[in-house]
Amino acid sequence: MDELIIAVPKGRLLGPLMDLWEGAGLSGELLRTQSRRLVIVDGERKLKYILAKPGDVPTYVEYGAADLGVVGKDVLLEEGADVSELLDLDFGRCQMVVAVPKERGITRVDQLDYNSRVATKYPNIARDYFSRQGLQVEVIKLGGSIELGPMVGLAEAIVDITETGGTLLANDLEPIAQVAAISARLIVNPIRYRVKLARIQPLVDALSGALERKGA
Ligand code: PRP
Repeated sequence: MDELIIAVPKGRLLGPLMDLWEGAGLSGELLRTQSRRLVIVDGERKLKYILAKPGDVPTYVEYGAADLGVVGKDVLLEEGADVSELLDLDFGRCQMVVAVPKERGITRVDQLDYNSRVATKYPNIARDYFSRQGLQVEVIKLGGSIELGPMVGLAEAIVDITETGGTLLANDLEPIAQVAAISARLIVNPIRYRVKLARIQPLVDALSGALERKGA
C-alpha cells in the first residue's frame, strides 16, 4: 500500500501550511474545506492527513501512525521524539526566549539569582538551556499564559516563544536571551523514510520547490 499518512497540526500552523501545500501543487483546499474532520483523504494523490493536536504530531510519527508530520521546532525540542527532520518549512517563525520583568533591570541570564523560578510550557527545553549555561534554576511548568508567572510572583523569569513581541511588551517583560529559533518542520519516521522513499522524495521535492519559489 503506497498511501502516505501525514500528521498535520490543528491551530495556527494549519493556515500557512495550506498555503505552502497549494504552492507545492498539493491540495491545500482539501484541508481548508474539511478542516472539521480529523482524517482527510486525498484519493487522487494517495495522501491521508491526520489533524492532530500540535504537541501530539511527533508521537503519531514516532509510532508510525503517520509517515510524515508537520510540527513546530518548539514541540520537537520539547518532546524529543525519535523522528528525523526533513525540511524547514519556513512558516511559524518565532523565537524562544528567556524574559524577565523590565523593572528588575537584568540584562543577562547569569544575573538571575541561584534557584530562581522559571515558568514555562517547555520544561525540558528550559532545563536543558539553563544546565548548558551552568545555572541552577527551578523550572515550573504552566499550560499557557506564561507571562502571568512573574506578574503574580510565581516566577522570576519565563521561557516562552515570542513572535511579534507584543505579549512580552504588554506585560512589562523583556527578553534577555535567545534559547532557540523556531519554525515549522517536516518530520519523518526514520524507518518509513527508508521503506517509502520513492513516495516521500517527490513530496519533499515539491515542497522544496515551493519554498525556493517563495524565496525561503
Ligand atoms: C504564545 C506565546 C506568547 C505569545 C507570543 O501564546 O506563549 O504568549 O503567543 O506572541 P507575540 O510575541 O506575537 O505576542 P499563545 O497565544 O499560544 O497562548 P498561550 O499563552 O496560552 O500559550
